[in-house]
Amino acid sequence: MILQNDLILRAARGEKTERTPVWLMRQAGRVLPEYREVRAKMGGFIELVKTPEFAAEVTIQPVDILGVDAAIIFSDILVIPEAMGLPYTMVEARGPWFEKTVKTEADINKLRIADGENDLSYVCDAIRLTKTALAGRVPLIGFAGAPWTLLAYMVEGSGSKTFSRAKKFLYTEPRLAHMLLEKITESTIHYLKAQVKAGADMLQIFDSWAGILSPAQYREFALPYIADICNALHGVVPITVFAKDAFFVREDLGKLKCNTIGLDWTMDVAESRALIGNEKTLQGNADPCLLYADFDTIKSETEKMLRAFGPSKHIANLGHGLYPDLEKEKVKFFVDTIKQFRF
Ligand code: CP3
Repeated sequence: MILQNDLILRAARGEKTERTPVWLMRQAGRVLPEYREVRAKMGGFIELVKTPEFAAEVTIQPVDILGVDAAIIFSDILVIPEAMGLPYTMVEARGPWFEKTVKTEADINKLRIADGENDLSYVCDAIRLTKTALAGRVPLIGFAGAPWTLLAYMVEGSGSKTFSRAKKFLYTEPRLAHMLLEKITESTIHYLKAQVKAGADMLQIFDSWAGILSPAQYREFALPYIADICNALHGVVPITVFAKDAFFVREDLGKLKCNTIGLDWTMDVAESRALIGNEKTLQGNADPCLLYADFDTIKSETEKMLRAFGPSKHIANLGHGLYPDLEKEKVKFFVDTIKQFRF
């Protein structure tokens, strides 16, 4: 199917675009009253993720309502741990919770290597339905969590400010950590290939907990596995790597076989460009809290951001996901400001 709007794909490949494309991390669900309405009528979050018709509907909502230049499939990074044998629940207002966690070598041996098409067929079905319903209006982004971030949840068992149990595991059981990271990586490669086969036009790897590792730990336990994923999918579809708070390894990120590096809002644009080099496209990086400001401030700060990145090799986004209490009008205003801006 021919895409009517392929700005994001062209920007990711470093090609010239008429204007800067924009999408928003966590645009599917969360911020839209339309999502909360449908969600209220249904069961819990995990059932929603496993209902392809619903997932497709929520995936398309931000394209219709916010006018973004890409859709991202409504799912979660935690579907991989579940497919490997660690089921989770989403506790209202608290976040994910795993009944079993990984502690020993036997725990790791019991985990399966997830097979994308079979174990995660519900995500592939949701992608296929979404692609049909989008009818080429905008590209569809598939995604997965980075191996380190997934290990963090699988060992910790829930969200945490410090993830000290997961970090303790790296210090006390480095061999097991590598065993687990390898299994997660293999599962993720199968999963991302299945997403592309089902119709994903682009992929993003979320390393949400990158910033809690030291540079040396990041180079040992995180980067090589992200590199494996990028190498396995290189040349298939454009890939974005978003390693939140990993300001200390930007030069290393620049060497990955991916198209785009996501920046969070703490990362200076010019400094990041200098460290990452001129080849890659950069994504980001407005502070999500900017969208609490008045309209004039949102406009001037957003235009400042666009000028800092320049006219090419930039995909506009926030520096992390939308917060659930942001007003839809402000979010839409941010998107419109980007779409109206010309260099
Ligand atoms: O970007 C999108 O809109 C696509 C869908 C998406 C979700 N989660 C849906 C979701 C994506 C890309 C994610 C990624 C994700 N999930 C990450 C990486 C990105 C990041 O924010 O750093 C992480 C760390 C998770 C794990 C997770 N899922 C947590 C910690 C929570 C609870 C807190 C929260 O964000 O609400 C979730 C739940 C979740 N994932 C919701 C949605 C729409 C909220 C569930 C609800 O409606 O109750």
